[in-house]
Amino acid sequence: MSPPAERVSAGVARVLDERVLRGRLGRVLDARAMRRGAQAVVDEEGLEPARELDVAPLEILRTADLEALRDPGRLEREILPALGLNDEILDEFPRELYPHCGKGLRHWQYPNQFGPYLAALSQQRIGSYLEVGVRHGGTFLITVEYLSRFAPLRKAIATDVVDSPWLRGQLRARPGMRLVLADSQLPQFPRFLAREGPFDLALVDAAHYEWTAQHDLDSVRPHANIVVLHDIVSQACPGVGSVWRRFRDEHAADWDFLEFTDQYDDVLERQGGPYLGIGVAIRRRRLGE
Ligand SMILES: C[S@@+](CC[C@H](N)C(=O)[O-])C[C@H]1O[C@@H](n2cnc3c(N)ncnc32)[C@H](O)[C@@H]1O
Repeated sequence: MSPPAERVSAGVARVLDERVLRGRLGRVLDARAMRRGAQAVVDEEGLEPARELDVAPLEILRTADLEALRDPGRLEREILPALGLNDEILDEFPRELYPHCGKGLRHWQYPNQFGPYLAALSQQRIGSYLEVGVRHGGTFLITVEYLSRFAPLRKAIATDVVDSPWLRGQLRARPGMRLVLADSQLPQFPRFLAREGPFDLALVDAAHYEWTAQHDLDSVRPHANIVVLHDIVSQACPGVGSVWRRFRDEHAADWDFLEFTDQYDDVLERQGGPYLGIGVAIRRRRLGE
């Protein structure tokens, strides 16, 4: 004999309620675990706090004409240095850029790589952005501002183990944007990405060992249309280059690849090898299409 209809629908409602609860509860528990994991990494590795940035130079990106923003040479020579570069490992930067280091957005990029990279992104359809490992948030804020000049950005998530109340405050004023404290190596992180994704663009620049970079790439790849790996030629973290080459070799059927790896003579002469390097993988068939 079949059960009465009310009992069936009550049972279905209960199962649905449990699913909703499990979903919400799962989200809360995962967020807590990711936050605790982040604090543990900061304590273990004694990571320096993030800094407040001078964001006034972002006005350059807001007001530059689109022709200038699409021009890799102008980005490299005029716009990116004026936005301000990182100074935490100054030896890896060319002396000609020192006047711009430790200022403004403090973004950890070579203008001769990041300029052509941004120009290439201007050709893509990008409405959402994820950056894993944002440090002070310079590259994140520049990317958000730059992409917004070409298409509305409905979502942008910055993640790091190091908190930045300042960055959190900056993003609070921007709908769809936030900083999430997370150790990306934890099993909760791919679940978080599955809930938040898919992302049109995801930049991986967190822990730089081979196994950590591989883990980050494996976590991010299923949830992004464009995956970017930072430091693919850096002699400081050769494992990241191995991860990138494996990605290229194993996924050539489904992804197209671009590389931005130009160097500065001054650094090559002083340091004897290359640094940074941006690898871009573009999914041939976008997720959900
Ligand atoms: C090279 S910095 C990022 C620079 C930034 N993308 C930029 O271009 O300005 C690497 C960042 O990764 C973060 N990080 C290290 N291990 C991490 C982990 N397990 N999960 C998330 N972030 C991590 C560090 O705190 C640091 O801020």
